[in-house]
Amino acid sequence: MILYAATTSPGKLSEFTASASTFGVQVLALPGLADMPEPVEDAPTYIGNAEKKAAAYSLLAPGLLVFADDSGLEVDALNGEPGIYSARFADMAGYDLHSGRNNDDRNNDLLLDRLRSTSAWAERSAHFVCAIALARDGQILLRSNGAVHGEIRYTARGTDGFGYDPLFFLPSLQSTMAELSREQKWLLSHRGRAFRALLPQLHTLPL
Ligand code: IMP
Repeated sequence: MILYAATTSPGKLSEFTASASTFGVQVLALPGLADMPEPVEDAPTYIGNAEKKAAAYSLLAPGLLVFADDSGLEVDALNGEPGIYSARFADMAGYDLHSGRNNDDRNNDLLLDRLRSTSAWAERSAHFVCAIALARDGQILLRSNGAVHGEIRYTARGTDGFGYDPLFFLPSLQSTMAELSREQKWLLSHRGRAFRALLPQLHTLPL
């Protein structure tokens, strides 16, 4: 069976590929994705956005099994923010707009700013969450979710990964996500967990 990933991220693709091979499933990048119009991610939930993307892209690739993911960071002390707006956290707040600094750095700085008065570790608990939807010809066939729990550090640490990884601390490993190898991150990440929850459902697909 071949699944087509609606992602242009080489990192995500190699992670999906590695997990799928143990299930005898092949994951390929959706051909022509870069030229397809991007659906607006305006659903109020991760799964809603994943479904929108999977449905829209699968309509443009008739007969193929296409999956899409959507994820974000939820911080308890911020009532779940930045949540579905994780990618655009700083932009939406108009934070540090014209500095020319990269989006991830601005998002991380805003997060630290918002948590300035939250000093207890227990109050800095956070979760990365991910939803994946699989579709064919515009029809959603399968859904899955994954999450990983951690705490937001006071300062960034580590150089790997992306997004909020340098601030996301895993007490059990005493590391941030940005200090993990790609293999370690994939094993425990929200995205890895969501994808591995999708794979065992594949046998239920209609032919
Ligand atoms: P996406 O849905 O995977 O594109 O993720 C949306 C946003 O959530 C990203 O732009 C990041 O800010 C954040 N995010 C999602 N997954 C991760 C992760 O594994 N590490 C760090 N940040 C993440």
